[in-house]
Amino acid sequence: MDAKHQRQIIIASNRGPVQFEVGPGGEVVTRRGSGGLVTALSDTLSASGGLWIASAMTDEDRRQAAAGRVDVVSEDLKYGLRYLSFESDVYDRYYNGITNRVLWFLHHYLWDTARTPVFDLDTYRSWDAFRDVNQAFAEALAEEGGHLGGSPAYLVQDYQLSLVPDMLRRLNRDAAIVHFSHIPFAGPRYIRMMPEVMRLELFEGLLGADVLGFHSDTWAQNFLLGCRSIPGAAVDPRRRAIRWRDRTVRVGVYPIAIDARGLKEETKRPEVRAARRALTRWREDSRVIVRVDRTDLSKNIIRGFLAFEEMIREHPEWRRRVRFLALLNPSRQDMEEYQIYTDDCVEAVQRVNRELGAPGWQPIELFLREDYPNTLAAYEQYDVMVVNPVYDGMNLVAKEGPALNRRGGVLILSENAGAFHELGRYALGVNPFDIHQTAEAMWRALEMGEDERVRRARGLRAAVRRNTPDRWVSAQLADLARIRPVTD
Ligand code: G6P
Repeated sequence: MDAKHQRQIIIASNRGPVQFEVGPGGEVVTRRGSGGLVTALSDTLSASGGLWIASAMTDEDRRQAAAGRVDVVSEDLKYGLRYLSFESDVYDRYYNGITNRVLWFLHHYLWDTARTPVFDLDTYRSWDAFRDVNQAFAEALAEEGGHLGGSPAYLVQDYQLSLVPDMLRRLNRDAAIVHFSHIPFAGPRYIRMMPEVMRLELFEGLLGADVLGFHSDTWAQNFLLGCRSIPGAAVDPRRRAIRWRDRTVRVGVYPIAIDARGLKEETKRPEVRAARRALTRWREDSRVIVRVDRTDLSKNIIRGFLAFEEMIREHPEWRRRVRFLALLNPSRQDMEEYQIYTDDCVEAVQRVNRELGAPGWQPIELFLREDYPNTLAAYEQYDVMVVNPVYDGMNLVAKEGPALNRRGGVLILSENAGAFHELGRYALGVNPFDIHQTAEAMWRALEMGEDERVRRARGLRAAVRRNTPDRWVSAQLADLARIRPVTD
């Protein structure tokens, strides 16, 4: 990282970079998250010195939390970690009650407005818990910043901690704060569905930062539009800046990158080799359409199956010549909405297989489990990959697939994914609600000539490699340094 941006860093995120678990022999084992965020931020943190603060999620996390700060040390990394532990009821209201049930649905436009949302007294109680957890984070950040001395950069991650910037500023007026939203930001009309007091608190919370980061211009613009109805906020759309309480808040677009080289290294592991062999056997000589997703309502999994069904019905010459491989990772199964959605995905697959399948040919193969080796093997081997979220902040599958694919695979990509800004010109873009268009895109991808496929796949790979995780963090720190110069 550039020396002029170098200041110590304190990161806050709800889910921490490692989870502590008790191993088979009673020993404590750590599991490091493999996402782009963890990779990008752990490296930066390790290089700059500092600390990561997160919520304790497992029992062992909670035991570690009681012990205070722990050091995370692996071959190439070293940084401090502090887990905050909350009463289970408070955490449940904060996490499921507000972050998952309100903010996630809001920013991904997931409500079925004839019936949901319903904001009742219980929602207001959950909002109190949301505020309490955010306050605890702000206090821990201020305290740890005090121990470090100087002026650390606070990098606050995501919608779960939307109130933290303002709370932290109240504890330390001159704090240097970046908040990053990894998910979409709802447009100005939709966001007004939130109770007014919560909406005002949400904007006020975020405006406590010096820099507000988003993955794409669409989400940044939505935020700026939303600010127009916040009393006291003066928006300058051209400079993407807001005058707020005698400060300037800068809204920046920083698309997150993947560590393409690290990902490639992972494919050398023996488990991945085994998965590759199994996949080659399974596919026989058919083409393969792949999707890789958490079972999240925003991922639009069912419409993907319906599009595949329509494609096969309309183009029966592809029967027996193509298989759909769906790798779904169960997510947020504490919530009824997610359990129902997961069941609906399974049912859709069973119905399509029943109605269209033939001896020796099962149209859709569904795996419902976390299976990283299989995912990497599927990335390498897809002919077509479908990434059709309803809305998505970025979508890293759209980057990981093309980085590893070896077959000139075609990417079908939702226009509502943040990744569309960088990759759209090499992908087949779809309106995620338009099943017919998605079906035609699948057909076009299967029929596409070798030259065009290879040209597009090369374009995707180059676009993915152009950006690096380190640049994603450095760009935020550089903008922060413009507003709050590093003096020491
Ligand atoms: C996705 C989003 C992140 C978000 C995370 C939360 O990965 O891209 O922005 O923070 O989900 O997932 P969790 O399982 O922690 O609720």
